[in-house]
Amino acid sequence: MRLSREFRDQFCQQEMRTHGRKNGFVTTGQEARMLKWLPKIGLTKDMTLADANLPANAPIVMEIGFGNGDFLVHLAQTHPEWILVGVEIYLPGVAKAVGRLDDANLIEQCRITQLPAQFVLTNQVQEGQLDGVFINHPDPWPKARHHKRRIIQKDFAVLLLSRLKPGGFIKLASDKADLADWMRDILDQTPGLTNVAGVGGYIDRDTDRPETKFEQRGNKAGRTSQFLHFVKD
Ligand SMILES: C[S@@+](CC[C@H](N)C(=O)[O-])C[C@H]1O[C@@H](n2cnc3c(N)ncnc32)[C@H](O)[C@@H]1O
Repeated sequence: MRLSREFRDQFCQQEMRTHGRKNGFVTTGQEARMLKWLPKIGLTKDMTLADANLPANAPIVMEIGFGNGDFLVHLAQTHPEWILVGVEIYLPGVAKAVGRLDDANLIEQCRITQLPAQFVLTNQVQEGQLDGVFINHPDPWPKARHHKRRIIQKDFAVLLLSRLKPGGFIKLASDKADLADWMRDILDQTPGLTNVAGVGGYIDRDTDRPETKFEQRGNKAGRTSQFLHFVKD
């Protein structure tokens, strides 16, 4: 069973410009799971979180760039009280995450979208709607001329802040030291956000964190990941 054009138009974002890869191989088994689940838990372009049939008063926590979905599974397992909004532009990542969440019987706790985080936050999330946001190992874009493609930018930080409730958190990780400093400095300079480790600081690695694919990749290459925790005043 292949995904129809109509289904792709609704649930797979093809036309929005992004700086990362969107398409890649998806098995027929993965497509079948997406066909089963995305009409129930997928966010289409014209929906907002208010249309997503969320239980009233449940904390809403977003993971941006969830990759293969392992960290999303961990969050769903460790925080059954949270509704998780997973945002990932790479279709094979969405396909893997849907499979993993389904296998773990946790998928109904999640809403999943393949739309870019910038679009989702601007158009689909209300001000003050989120209790927290995780961004693990965002793309580093190491060349100086590509730094403008990094997801954490001054205006993105302001957008993130506006979508958080007072007291809401942003937690980030990176195995690339210059990117970690870049994210820390931008967020440190965003009025209304407080660095839990103090300006210029990093927090210790949360002990219950699973290693994501990109943390493992960094470890194998001899890099130590750094972790950031900011709270909205
Ligand atoms: C380096 S990978 C990290 C994946 C995973 N978080 C990990 O730690 O293993 C960065 C991920 O962010 C996704 N991504 C990049 N830009 C994005 C955007 N604008 N919105 C949502 N996801 C994005 C990429 O497709 C990729 O899966």
